[in-house]
Amino acid sequence: MLRVGFIGWRGMVGSVLMQRMREENDFRGIEPAFFSTSNVGGAAPAEAQGEPLRDAANLKDLAACDVLISCQGGEYTTEIYTPLRKSGWSGYWIDAASTLRMSDDAVIILDAVNLPVIQKGLANGVRTYAGGNCTVSLMLMAAAGLFSAGLVEWMTTMTYQAASGAGAAKMLELVKQMGVLTDPVRKSPSENALEVDRLVIAAQRSRELPAAEFGAPLAGSLIPWIDKEMPGGQTKEEWKGMAETNKILGLDPSVPVDGICVRIGTMRCHSQGLCIKLKRDVPLREVEDLLAASNPWVRVIPNNKESSIRCLTPTAVSGTLNVPIGRLHKLNLGPEFFGAFTVGDQLLWGAAEPLRRMLGILREHLGA
Ligand code: HSE
Repeated sequence: MLRVGFIGWRGMVGSVLMQRMREENDFRGIEPAFFSTSNVGGAAPAEAQGEPLRDAANLKDLAACDVLISCQGGEYTTEIYTPLRKSGWSGYWIDAASTLRMSDDAVIILDAVNLPVIQKGLANGVRTYAGGNCTVSLMLMAAAGLFSAGLVEWMTTMTYQAASGAGAAKMLELVKQMGVLTDPVRKSPSENALEVDRLVIAAQRSRELPAAEFGAPLAGSLIPWIDKEMPGGQTKEEWKGMAETNKILGLDPSVPVDGICVRIGTMRCHSQGLCIKLKRDVPLREVEDLLAASNPWVRVIPNNKESSIRCLTPTAVSGTLNVPIGRLHKLNLGPEFFGAFTVGDQLLWGAAEPLRRMLGILREHLGA
């Protein structure tokens, strides 16, 4: 039986992974081992059948696994991956972190759109599989139909990214900020919008607002910067758009993708406004058909107000695997230009889902 080790299974992405694996009965037929960085010897989840938590820093214990799935984060990967490989371990490493994504020895996994790339990797003996950046993965879940048809000349992605992408502590801070913003209005209720606005702005600018995580107010505002600064004025999150899209799909020559990434005050759904320049003038109907046929999770939403406000929002999508894409229409820029808007759950297709699906693909490949 395949021994599969889990690291970081208690964190936010790890918890969603566990939940999805239980829902899909993924633990059946594997021998799971649960690792910990802080509670070695403690009780593991029921799936471990009494085996206690193993030490996530113990290379020998890790190396006893055929597959390791890490949601522990980039620092852990940086610390453990190379020594583990150097120790001679040749098992399969499946990782949610970005550390190894762009390495030549790793495939970025999003099987709903790049199964052939994954299968080629397996056939060529690739042993390292990394989940993609959540924004890129969600964009591709929505728009892959146009890439696969070879129709995309370039694309811009203007993002509206949820707090969860920055981690659990950020989500909690966002909600605390919301409370601080609405407290003064609750204490001095007013029907005068300008008076309420004054109270809200005062709360946002006050020292009372918890902002240690974001470094700025997010509730009732936005933050037009995600991740590190890159040369050329991009942020790292923006840089990933082109680098990862092309690697995930194995595109050569590469398709330019760029945009501005913005953090907004939603909990776990990333949204994106896309401007797509197609290589030729394609009728709207054909674009809709290509998008809809791409994978079983994409949902083409009719471009009208009722459908858009009902189906194309973080509120509608949160906690589901659906990836709606709507607001599809030709832009004034010219007949080859399409506008679109898409929303996806950052913790599901953006993080945990590709990992559990990779384990399934691997089991099939190994006949295990
Ligand atoms: N980096 C992304 C964000 C999430 O900050 O929203 C993970 O891909």
